[in-house]
Amino acid sequence: MSVKDVEKKLQREMLKKVERKRLKIEKDKDLFETVEEVFDSRTVMALYSLINKGIIDSMRGVVKAGKESRIYWAKGRNGEDLAIKIFLTSSMEIKKSMLQYIHGDPRFKVGKDYRRIVYTWAQKEYRNLSEAKSAGVLVPNPICAYQNILVMEFIGADGVPAPLLKDLPELDESLYQQILVAIKKLYSSAGLVHADLSEYNIMVNEGKAYLIDFGQAVSRDHPMSLEFLRRDVVNILRFFRKAGLNVPEEEAVLEWLKK
Ligand SMILES: Nc1ncnc2c1ncn2[C@@H]1O[C@H](COP(=O)(O)OP(=O)(O)OP(=O)(O)O)[C@@H](O)[C@H]1O
Ligand SMILES: [Mg+2]
Repeated sequence: MSVKDVEKKLQREMLKKVERKRLKIEKDKDLFETVEEVFDSRTVMALYSLINKGIIDSMRGVVKAGKESRIYWAKGRNGEDLAIKIFLTSSMEIKKSMLQYIHGDPRFKVGKDYRRIVYTWAQKEYRNLSEAKSAGVLVPNPICAYQNILVMEFIGADGVPAPLLKDLPELDESLYQQILVAIKKLYSSAGLVHADLSEYNIMVNEGKAYLIDFGQAVSRDHPMSLEFLRRDVVNILRFFRKAGLNVPEEEAVLEWLKK
């Protein structure tokens, strides 16, 4: 192939890429307008890039707008539902609070560039989800983390997220057991502590409890890991106790967890 041919080929590829991008944006016009209002241009470009790579086929709608992130419903290339978590790169306060869960975890190192901290945060959530999944803990299947965007399995159906534990009309013993077993697998097999576990960060889909929101989860080697573990356990026990279930004492559970 001559240099000219190669150039022609490249140009064709570029044109195809631009066209693909344009088509996707046309298809998701309203959504992209809102995305552009909320996110800076680098985030929008990162999203385009995931579309070009074929990881995201189309964006469908906002699922939840939180303080640190927004969750979108999207479709993957095989028509599967995806959850896209986009971390906001703007709030300084949030980045400061992120640092205590990054420093002390030997798996991650960060400097002072705030944007980088948020990228590390997305990577960290991805890695925590992967490690949790390998240990057999039920979590949304992580697909990739790119800059401040995390792509994962959508828990729910047709763009409607499964309810959070706190919103369930009825609770049973099985859920409580599933959650304790998940904490134990996370701690003993994955060597991780969730560190923000409560009825707000557990989704229940068809009777199965999924732990979510793993950005702050730390390695067992983090100097505060035992404190975080205790806090997680206390939150879960408190929730089920309030709901009228007969749950054991915190100390007994902690002992069992560390066995
Ligand atoms: N994989 C998923 N599939 C479907 N919905 C999800 C998924 N992950 C998160 N959600 C929904 O988005 C909400 C926020 O997600 P998450 O807890 O990970 O973010 P957050 O940064 O803690 O947000 P917030 O500040 O609102 O707590 C969840 O409560 C849940 O309703
Ligand atoms: Mg949360």
